[in-house]
Amino acid sequence: MTAPAVNLDTDLEAIVQNAASAFATTTTPAELENAKAQFLGKSGSVTALMRGMAQLAPEEKKTRGAAINRAKQAIEAALTARRQALKDAELERQLQAEALDVTLPGRQRGAGALHPISLVWERIEHIFASMGFDVANGPEIESDWFSFTALNNPPNHPARSMQDTFYVDMQGEDGQPYCLRPHTSPMQIRYASARARKYAAELARGETPEVRVIAPGRTYRVDNDATHSPMFHQVEGLWLGENVSFKDLKVTYLNFCRAFFETDKLQLRFRPSYFPFTEPSAEIDIQFQEGKNAGKWLEVSGCGQVHPNVVTNMGLDPERYIGFAFGSGIDRLAMLRYGVSDLRQFFEGDVRFLEQFS
Ligand code: PHE
Repeated sequence: MTAPAVNLDTDLEAIVQNAASAFATTTTPAELENAKAQFLGKSGSVTALMRGMAQLAPEEKKTRGAAINRAKQAIEAALTARRQALKDAELERQLQAEALDVTLPGRQRGAGALHPISLVWERIEHIFASMGFDVANGPEIESDWFSFTALNNPPNHPARSMQDTFYVDMQGEDGQPYCLRPHTSPMQIRYASARARKYAAELARGETPEVRVIAPGRTYRVDNDATHSPMFHQVEGLWLGENVSFKDLKVTYLNFCRAFFETDKLQLRFRPSYFPFTEPSAEIDIQFQEGKNAGKWLEVSGCGQVHPNVVTNMGLDPERYIGFAFGSGIDRLAMLRYGVSDLRQFFEGDVRFLEQFS
């Protein structure tokens, strides 16, 4: 820092030089203000010189006073310059510390998406709703009565092992043991008996009461391999009326499959089977005429005509109400729709797998 070129006495010249170099060594505003006090403060060297003028003759006072003032101005100029320099340095330091690289990619929040099972679940609801089916929801912790007994599957019957599940260490107010429901079939009884209570009014109005419902949901069984997991998803279908037959089941299920897989190039096969709650019972197999699985028969559902004992347990007259039920694996349908060969991939939560469906 150089002091302005002024014509000064040597003592003043030295003071200005000293001030300039003292200011130059400061690195903070506080240090600078301290240095200033040494020259311009109450006991600073310039102030002392001013005081010394009292003894001078008037003529001398004038020239000396002017010289001291010029020296003071020079010191003030050096001070202002240093103040600015320190400010600039501080700003520069801040800019460095808070530097932003505006060319870096921004932080993004990834778009979420529905799980493939949820997508398929919604798709199933949508298709059945378009065929006039109601959608019902029910408890996953279910009583023995709704899970088995009401479905014509009494305690100790060997058919119970077909749907072996997890038992819960609790007894309901109804005195029943409880389990994790092994199928969504309990909803047949729950939904239909709720409907049955309204039937009298509907009959009185001259309407033909009907039960037409699907019950999708989580289900549980003691199973774990590539095509079975202890928790899985089912959709139960139930259609009861005065004149509902196996023919309606075939048409309903075929139309569902065509809509679900978006192709007419498939056929169904009803293979005789056994379930306690239906008589006769069948497995529904599907065969695609094209694509990865072309020609293979794949099991997608159990089904049958609802057993009269089950109709009775719904509070309906089995002489009057007849119809069908089916229970399909939602996961199985998802595997076929998306070409997934290991069911467990749906439940491992690997984002690389899941993001393919978003
Ligand atoms: N509930 C049966 C099962 O899970 C499937 C089924 C439902 C069969 C309805 C017939 C009628 O195995």
